Amino acid sequence: MYYQINGGKKLFGEVTIGGAKNCLLPLLAVSTAIGGKVVLHDCPPMMDVLNMVALLKKLGAKVCYQDNVATIDAKDLAYFKVDRQLGGKLRGSVLFLGALLGRFKRATVPIRGGCAIGKRPIDIHISAFKKLGVEVEEGDFEVVCNAENAKGGNVCLPYPSVGATENLLSFAVLTKGRTILENVAIEPEVIALERFLVQAGAKIQGIGTNKLIVDGVKTLNSVEFRPIPDRIETATYMVACCMAQGKITLHNVCPQHVECLTKILKGATVDFCKNNLSLECHQKIKGFQVETAPYPRFATDMQSLALSLSTVAKGQSKVVEKVFENRFFNCGELAKMGAKITLSGDFATILGVDRLQGATVKCKDLRSGAGLVLAGLNAVGTTKVLDVFHVERGYCNLVKNLNLLGGEIVEIDD
Ligand code: UD1
Repeated sequence: MYYQINGGKKLFGEVTIGGAKNCLLPLLAVSTAIGGKVVLHDCPPMMDVLNMVALLKKLGAKVCYQDNVATIDAKDLAYFKVDRQLGGKLRGSVLFLGALLGRFKRATVPIRGGCAIGKRPIDIHISAFKKLGVEVEEGDFEVVCNAENAKGGNVCLPYPSVGATENLLSFAVLTKGRTILENVAIEPEVIALERFLVQAGAKIQGIGTNKLIVDGVKTLNSVEFRPIPDRIETATYMVACCMAQGKITLHNVCPQHVECLTKILKGATVDFCKNNLSLECHQKIKGFQVETAPYPRFATDMQSLALSLSTVAKGQSKVVEKVFENRFFNCGELAKMGAKITLSGDFATILGVDRLQGATVKCKDLRSGAGLVLAGLNAVGTTKVLDVFHVERGYCNLVKNLNLLGGEIVEIDD
């Protein structure tokens, strides 16, 4: 399937942002650690979520998924080995490790290896688990862990990895003794997981900070939870409006989660009222500089969106990528659309053009794909965005919503 975009249409109207993919994936994974029922509201059926649900079912969990509500009952979970074939395709499958190890003291998860945006090793997860006494056998395709002799301890992460923090926390809450985790990630999705676990009966001190003190409990109980709004989806519509121009209102947003983006939108008017955001843009955004880093600095998942925006910003911009090694492949695709980008190592210097030109371009990963859709909204003429299955991993209703706002975009089966 590809998207065909007829660019140059201004955007006006409203969109309601859904539950965050990166919040839902760890919540779905950690539901295997819970003896009772987990009810997750606002769970949009994007591909990554559907795949996590399929993995849960393969593990023996009962899952009812209707009208954006997922109810998971993992009481009688049958296996602690995550399906290699399906799990191998989904980076989020590594998040089952901590939860299964915490509850069953054994877990086997597939190793995904590198992906389009970087090598993505799990060495930080593994060495921290080992420090807590987990025996780890790393094969070519999977990692097999045994936590029979593990207990609480002190771990200081060499880098505040989001996934490693989520995995270790999911493990520590069900592990005997006190675990102190330092230099952990403080991304909003991590904090949501901390709150979810506390609601399930976990004992965690330091919520929202980079040092967590966890006292292991024997079991975790039923919990009903609503994920945080998707800050990357929010950012996508914000940038869409700046590139196509117009006026939009986004409902269900958390203003501080998109502050790193709001700060650079000089030329647009952004107003917040409780959980609603309105953005109006009738001129070019001024050239800007961003450097990706852990929260609350500029999110790497917003980098491709910012790169697209910079191609039509006024004057020069600089985009520096410090989180992943290989997140600039959109430079070539955007160049096909007339963008003026010079890439040197981990940064790109961009000279804004008046408008991009329609072309045929290809997605290589989720967020770069979204960046190309945004470029298409700005471009003169028709843009074909190929391989949009990447985009559908993490967006629900992107095409429908952009059309509702007045964009012209169709999905075409090839
Ligand atoms: C999560 C997000 C992803 C986001 C990223 C950074 C989910 C499902 N995915 O990914 O969208 O881009 O956070 O905000 O929530 N690293 C190591 N060794 C490790 C772990 C990580 O070297 O053991 C490196 C990674 O290769 C990467 C950097 O650390 O360069 C950040 O990775 P991490 O924070 O772990 O990201 P993920 O949890 O994979």
